[in-house]
Order: sequence, then C-alpha cells, then structure tokens
Amino acid sequence: MWLNNILETIGNTPLIKLNKITKDIPATVLAKVDYFNPGNSIKDRMALKMVEVAEKEGRLKPGGTIIEGTSGNTGMGLALAACVKGYKCVFVTTDKQSKEKADILKAVGAEVIVCPTNVLPEDPASYYSVAKRLAKEIPNSIYMNQYDNLANRQAHYESTGPEIWQQTEGKITHLVCTAGTGGTITGTAMYLKEKNPNIKVWAIDVFGSLLTKYYHTGEKDMHEVYPYISEGFGEDFVPANYDMSVIDNFVQVTDKDGAIMARRIAKEEGLFCGYSAGSCLQGLFQLKESLTKDDVVVCIFHDHGSRYVGKIYNDQWMMERGFLEVKTFKDIVSGRANQKLITIAPDNTVIEAVALMKQYDIDQIPVWDNNEMIGSLSESGLFQKIFINPEIKDATVASVIEHSFPIVEFTTSVEKLSSLINKENGAVLAKDDSGNYHIVTKYDVIQSIAK
Ligand SMILES: Cc1ncc(COP(=O)(O)O)c(C=O)c1O
Repeated sequence: MWLNNILETIGNTPLIKLNKITKDIPATVLAKVDYFNPGNSIKDRMALKMVEVAEKEGRLKPGGTIIEGTSGNTGMGLALAACVKGYKCVFVTTDKQSKEKADILKAVGAEVIVCPTNVLPEDPASYYSVAKRLAKEIPNSIYMNQYDNLANRQAHYESTGPEIWQQTEGKITHLVCTAGTGGTITGTAMYLKEKNPNIKVWAIDVFGSLLTKYYHTGEKDMHEVYPYISEGFGEDFVPANYDMSVIDNFVQVTDKDGAIMARRIAKEEGLFCGYSAGSCLQGLFQLKESLTKDDVVVCIFHDHGSRYVGKIYNDQWMMERGFLEVKTFKDIVSGRANQKLITIAPDNTVIEAVALMKQYDIDQIPVWDNNEMIGSLSESGLFQKIFINPEIKDATVASVIEHSFPIVEFTTSVEKLSSLINKENGAVLAKDDSGNYHIVTKYDVIQSIAK
C-alpha cells in the first residue's frame, strides 16, 4: 500500500484527550492535533484547497507562480502542493515571524520576501500590499489571498469539521480555536453547527488584535491594534473568511499566558505544539467556568513546536520578554535559609575533610581561615592525590588545597552561574543580606534548570 504523493497525507489527524493539564477543567478536553499534517500545520488543508479551486477556476495554469502573504504555515502547505503539481512559489512574510519558518519555506523551494510588521495593511511596504503588487508584476501568477479566499474556510468545512464530528461520534459540545484569517474556526464551525446547532464555538484572539472588539461591538477599532508577540492568529482587519454568526464568544489571551501554556502542554501532555495551541488552551481556561462534566470540548492545535524552538521553547527568549522568572543564586538557596555553610580549616587533616564530606554528602568544601575563603577541596582532587600517595590522608588540608570558588552577588542569574561552574570549578559562593555565605554547586544548577 502506498500513497501517490505527499498531498494524500493531509488531514485525518488524531484527536487526543488532554489529561493532566486539564485536571481543573470540569469537562472532557480533546485536542485536534493538526501538526500531524505533512507540513506540520492545519494550514496544509486550506492551502491544497485554494490551489485546487484556483486550478478548477482556470486562475492557476501549468507552470504558474503562487504568491501569498504568509506567516509560514500556509506557505508550507502551498509549497508542498506546488512541489507536487509543478508551480513556483513566492511568499511575502513579516519580520516578526520565526526565522526558522522562512528557512523551512526556502527548503521546500519557495522564494521568501520579508516585510516590516509594524505598518498598516494599506501601507505599500506591508506584506499584504507587496503580495498584491507582485501578483500584478509576475506573469502567470496568482495571489492566493488566504484572508479573503473562501476556499480557506471551505477546506475546514469539508475536512476539519467532518473529522471532528466523526471522531467525537457527534458528542462534541464546544469548539475552541484561535482565529486569524478566520478560515479554521468559521469553516469547522459551519459544518459542526449544521450537524448540531447547540455546539458552542469559542474564538481565541490575542491582545493587540481588533477581532474581539469587532465581534462584540461591530466596531473596527484601530485603537485596539498594537504589536503582539504571539504568532499565527489575531488580525488588524476583518478577513472575508469570517462568518461571525457561527461564533458564540471571542476572548483575548496575553502573549505571556499563551507561551507559558504551550510549554506546559509539551511538558505535561507530551504534545510539542506551536504558540497558538498554548493560546487556544489558555483561552479555554479563561472560559472554563461555563463548562460542565458532560461537555466534550475540542481545542484545535494548529501547528508544531519545532517552529518555535528559538522562541517560546528557549528560556532566554522567554526571560527577555518577562515570560519566565529569571532564576538566581538566591532562588536556588532559598529553601535552605538556616543551613550553615560547611567549611574546613587549613590545619585540619585530609582524613577529617573526607569524613566531613561523607557526613554531609558533599563533593567539595571551601577552606576557611579567619572568616574568609582561602581555597577549596574537591572529591575528585583528593581522590587523585590519595591514589598517588595514600600517606597524604594524615597531611593538613593546607598541603592539598585547591583554588577558591568564585564569589558572586546573591542575585546572580542561573545562566551566569552555569558559565562559572565547570570541570575545574564545581561551585560558587555568595553572601546573603545577613552576611552568611551560601554555596551553589554544579548539581544545584542542573536541578534548578531541570525544574
Ligand atoms: C499557528 C497558527 N495558529 C492559528 C492560526 C489561525 O488560523 P486561521 O487563519 O484559520 O484563523 C494560524 C493561521 O495561519 C496559524 O498558522
């Protein structure tokens, strides 16, 4: 059994129950995990549909060029279709999108043009304007326009909706989905509401997008629009793919909450999803009060985490944006406030030092004289010396002393600590506000990073 080409693997993605992360939600929560598509996102579905419709309508001819303004996922789907069907692709994207996304598009043969994010759609430099201009300039080309091209929502009406209906055996009570072009939520909801008009459809938006206010008031308020960090959803205009009448609520999620939730989904459920999956589940948490135990909620997880390894899955990136607390020396030792630093004096013997290290189960010990550190002893250093000369066990600590540990500020970040701890240097010391010294070892740093 084989498939004729990669496009035949699009769709029929799994619906997976969330367990740990949703323990405080009084309903069954299922994730439609669409990173199982060949391009790693749900957008493969609508990309193929837009190509097929354009071919059928005679707007896309053999050897033609597909032009699109895309943040990456739609581009990937279009590029796969173009590979199989013999078209060229030119994608216009914004400088906000992950570099990985653009590189992936180039890997599948597309040309990628990057435009500034912080300009209005009608600005000639915006990615919408550039895509439209290129479509006029390049002969035998077509601007797909996923925003206003209704083949987008049609794809979800024909595939995503029916799959969810079948996979839940018609038991779905709520659909929760991040909303960008509106294709996924509108198409899927149109199908599901035809099957059961009582199904509730909740759209998840981001602060900085005008969609939520538009949904609630009908006003396209540009004061709502400001740059945001989340990727793939939220808009600064209302695309034609929306039919707001199939949506029952619209809520906004912060960049921080979405990012943190995506990381939790990966850690707690083993689903390595993209940013918007985190926002989607965060949105559900914000609305969980209206759920009951009999509800069956389907959250759509649009894409895969691999596209965000340099972003939400990178601790440094998260810390720089204030999404993750910067852990410091102080945080590591906070649980052992009353613990006295174990030290040894230079005139103690090696055997006494070994006994002390054994008693406290420590690998290294600062050598202390007159209230200051004059050096250290380490298990590995002592082992080597005792191995060469067993008599040394009766010698003084001073005769086998190694270099002092670095002394840092109490507020030094874990990142800085890990750069100070190495093969030669197994620990660092810092003084707390009451003047007591504390020690942080390689093991402590590893533990704190792994938490
Ligand atoms: C990662 C991601 N999440 C959410 C969406 C929103 O989906 P839609 O455009 O169908 O509303 C997109 C769309 O590009 C996306 O790429």
